Amino acid sequence: MGHRVCAVDIDAGRVAELNGGKAPFFEPGLDEMIARNLDSHRISFTTELREAVPNADAVLLCVPTPAGTNGDADLSMLYAALRDVGPLLKPGALVITRSTVPVGTNALLAIQLRQEHPDADVAVISNPEFLREGHAVDDFMRPERVIIGAADADAGSRAAKLYDTLGCQIIITDLETAEITKYAANAYLAASISFINEIANICERTGADVTKVTEALHLDRRIGEHAYIEPGIGFGGSCLPKDISALVSTAEGHGYDPTLLKAIMAVNDSQPKRIVGYLRELFTDLSSLKVAVLGISFKGDTFDVRSSPAMSVIRHLGDAGIRVHAFDPMADRTVEMCVSAIAELHEDAYSAATGCDAVIIASEHSEFRMLDLQRLGKVMASRVLIDGRNVLDPATVAEAGFSHIGIGRARRGD
Ligand code: UGA
Repeated sequence: MGHRVCAVDIDAGRVAELNGGKAPFFEPGLDEMIARNLDSHRISFTTELREAVPNADAVLLCVPTPAGTNGDADLSMLYAALRDVGPLLKPGALVITRSTVPVGTNALLAIQLRQEHPDADVAVISNPEFLREGHAVDDFMRPERVIIGAADADAGSRAAKLYDTLGCQIIITDLETAEITKYAANAYLAASISFINEIANICERTGADVTKVTEALHLDRRIGEHAYIEPGIGFGGSCLPKDISALVSTAEGHGYDPTLLKAIMAVNDSQPKRIVGYLRELFTDLSSLKVAVLGISFKGDTFDVRSSPAMSVIRHLGDAGIRVHAFDPMADRTVEMCVSAIAELHEDAYSAATGCDAVIIASEHSEFRMLDLQRLGKVMASRVLIDGRNVLDPATVAEAGFSHIGIGRARRGD
């Protein structure tokens, strides 16, 4: 976009990797973007705030705000960052919060800055990000909108200028509205997913096919072709679950009982358990079963296992006394560490399925669409496939001699 950027992290290993042109996580297009900007000296990475902050016109705070003990957001890292940045800010600088923070937080940050640095002349801006893992570069460069929350109009329009070259709609509002917009977007997405999962559960009991239902819904312009209505074992990740909990906490803190938000979570929490229910319908003795779970990450084509519904499935299977083999095509050391206590990790789908009574697809990794079903069936003790993400065609699976169970679909095979 033409800006010069100095990025700071407290992790020296991560900073070294980034200065070498490599992101410390998987994100399509990001390594190329970093390398290009390192070459043109537009970006640098450091552990030293002193190298980054004193010359900056804008300081973007992008630290995590994970779920705290009561489901509310833990803001300790944000306040720590502000405390460290405060004394180094140059007059007229903008402090821009990109982290997801409960309504009222940015106003409190501004008060803290004013108290600690009465002469600082800096403005606090709320500028929530809407990036999806796996699409972050594209979502950033081609956003549907940019939200700028500011307590004064001049600071708001200066922050908006940062995004001028993107040519997208920029909504400038007050701090509180910007903060709530982020939660509203994630709560809406989560609501769509729990809604369709509930419809899928009704479809299963009535013989309807949820995939035809979603095909029809996508064509309704009031719902839309990009609507979050793919049913499955529930939503996960580091954002949707924690943001709904934080919004519930905010609502309750303001004396409002958010019944719909709680219902979104209740449907989502029950979705992974349904996999054990399917097995109970097919097998009399669960404790003698061995099953393979394909996909451990919270969604397809990422390796992130934070709040992954696939991990919940594995835990529920273990609680039912079932032995679990697991495979994830993108597993790294973190994934291995998370899974090794509750499942036996395998190098590929066929090794994981060997000797198993059922295979469960738990994340929609692209490579699962190309599974060699004959090869899979040959190594299994019985041909049962539970497709927790509806990635395979039920007729094809049944033709390969499997009993097929999908989410919200009629049963196929014996
Ligand atoms: C989500 C939002 O989509 C981003 O807009 C937001 O910026 C981000 O959270 C954040 O707050 O930082 P992300 O967590 O990367 O992004 O994940 P999504 O792609 O939205 O998927 C979330 C979960 O919903 C996954 O477990 C996915 O499998 C599930 N999902 C998604 C469904 O079950 N059905 C759908 O139709 C869509």
